[in-house]
Amino acid sequence: MGSPANQARIAGVAALVLLITVTATVIAGSRLSRPLRELTDAVRLMEEGKAARVTVTGRDELCRLAAAFNAMSERRERLEELRKEMVSDIAHELRTPLSNIRGWLEATEDGVVAPDRELVSSLLEEALLLQHIIDDLQDLAVADAGELRLREEPVNVADLLVQVATAHRGGAEAAGVTLTTRADGEPRLFADPVRLRQAVGNLASNAVRHTPPDGTVSLLARREGDDVVIDVTDTGTGIAAEDLPLIFERFWRVEKSRSRRTGGSGLGLPIARKLAEAHGGTLHATSVLGEGSTFTLRLPAAR
Ligand SMILES: Nc1ncnc2c1ncn2[C@@H]1O[C@H](COP(=O)(O)OP(=O)(O)OP(=O)(O)O)[C@@H](O)[C@H]1O
Ligand SMILES: [Mg+2]
Repeated sequence: MGSPANQARIAGVAALVLLITVTATVIAGSRLSRPLRELTDAVRLMEEGKAARVTVTGRDELCRLAAAFNAMSERRERLEELRKEMVSDIAHELRTPLSNIRGWLEATEDGVVAPDRELVSSLLEEALLLQHIIDDLQDLAVADAGELRLREEPVNVADLLVQVATAHRGGAEAAGVTLTTRADGEPRLFADPVRLRQAVGNLASNAVRHTPPDGTVSLLARREGDDVVIDVTDTGTGIAAEDLPLIFERFWRVEKSRSRRTGGSGLGLPIARKLAEAHGGTLHATSVLGEGSTFTLRLPAAR
């Protein structure tokens, strides 16, 4: 053992080392616990459905965790916003035909309207509109859940275009619009014919609806590399450049008020795009306001 002086020096050094260790641990601990506390508080806020962000600076693991948390929180808020919008849009869409039906029935009950054939066909028209909206919503929900089942088989695209045109010929003639089809080089697909007709049909009905009398709607199919491309072109009203990115949004339409003539609820294009994607393809639009629009469905030929 050393002298008392030596022992005192050793004890002093040991005490110093201990002090440094404790200080370092406390500093490191507080540096670690502060951001963790902040994160915990933010998670609580998020649980309460409030906007939650954490501010952690630096480049360590905790900062990456904070950045990931912020991104997740932002995404959750956006989804929540979309969900609220969806619910209010659906309520709004269903309200119009339902209040029409109610109006007709109340007028009949009061004896203002005769319960005749005309009434029945008005009621039937509103009921069909309701059915149409609900079927569309169902299609979108199934596609969103990734549960859209395709019954794929070899499809002759030229025949398919003729079928779609036949289905829309009556409406086109009534509107004074010429409807034509053309297929270059026998394009064939392996696809679900029912879903494909639905997608092209949505595009064709939009085109007919937005084309003034004496205009033309043409359905054109061709092979392009490994793809089959279907163009639905009209000489109609066209779509403004700033509206073009929005037309594939659910419930979006240029004319906000739904009238019989301008039609639908703004679900046709989102559905057509979902159906294209389910087939591994894409749907895009180009348009010149006042001149017309082209909707291009591009599908891989061999799947
Ligand atoms: N060929 C077109 N020419 C001009 N505008 C178009 C054309 N196709 C779509 N639009 C615009 O895009 C909007 C969205 O179209 P979409 O097919 O999704 O809904 P919709 O036709 O209004 O209703 P739905 O198809 O559900 O019956 C339309 O309301 C219309 O304003
Ligand atoms: Mg439509």
